[in-house]
Amino acid sequence: MVTRLKYSMNEKFVKLGKNVTIQEYVLLGAIPSNIDEIKPLIIGDNCLIRSHTVIYTNTIIGNHVQTGHNVLIREHDNIGNNVSIGSHSVLERNVTIEDNVRIHSNVFIPEYTNIEQNAWIGPNVVMTNAYHPKCNIVKQCLKGPTIKKFAIIGANTTILPYVTIGKRAFIGAGSLVTKDIPNGMVAYGSPAKIVKKIEELSCTTNLKNTKAYEEVNFFLKTKTNEKISE
Ligand SMILES: CC(C)(COP(=O)(O)OP(=O)(O)OC[C@H]1O[C@@H](n2cnc3c(N)ncnc32)[C@H](O)[C@@H]1OP(=O)(O)O)[C@@H](O)C(=O)NCCC(=O)NCCS
Repeated sequence: MVTRLKYSMNEKFVKLGKNVTIQEYVLLGAIPSNIDEIKPLIIGDNCLIRSHTVIYTNTIIGNHVQTGHNVLIREHDNIGNNVSIGSHSVLERNVTIEDNVRIHSNVFIPEYTNIEQNAWIGPNVVMTNAYHPKCNIVKQCLKGPTIKKFAIIGANTTILPYVTIGKRAFIGAGSLVTKDIPNGMVAYGSPAKIVKKIEELSCTTNLKNTKAYEEVNFFLKTKTNEKISE
């Protein structure tokens, strides 16, 4: 007999906030195979967990968070408020995502990665955390990128371990980022090179009254009155 589950939840290890929508075939509170102490998965208020998402225990998720379809979120992750995680994206363990971050589809975020407030991650972005994946002590030096506040990462970008993308920096599509990019700079290419300042970007579609870069904070304007800390 085929049993169709609406969703599957390990009641003992999941704490749900108010008004959380969970779609079909979601698994909440998956138990990690190698863990000392199981702590509940905590999901805040007004979240939307779309079908086929899997979220492990020992992870904390804020309010107004939504996942696309088929998202994987592992243990020891800390996800803030108003975060959107696109379909087929994978967040490995020990990842921190701050408030108002937008993660597009098919994004890979490895262990020990930090993404700060209001950063924007385009589709198919791959972040990495191991310089030499088969080194016998690789686990001692794993470190993913740090994406600072309001940074934008263009589609299909790969970012190497330890790299910091500065505040309000903009990485063009298809880049391979091998070194830190300073605050407010546009960089692209393989390897990515700094090209100009973010203020020097101009609109290429000739729309009137358009700025090529503006710190619009959709979530803050529409959902909360929280201030962005400097
Ligand atoms: C980087 C970007 C913002 C444009 O920057 P720009 O400096 O204004 O670039 P321009 O359009 O003036 O082009 C200048 C030159 O850089 C090249 N260039 C532009 N973007 C590039 C990129 N991502 N990688 C490599 N070269 C790029 C152009 O071909 C042009 O070359 P040329 O001088 O030989 O003709 C834009 O191309 C980009 O990559 N945006 C991100 C798109 C994206 O990923 N969106 C995700 C949502 S789906």
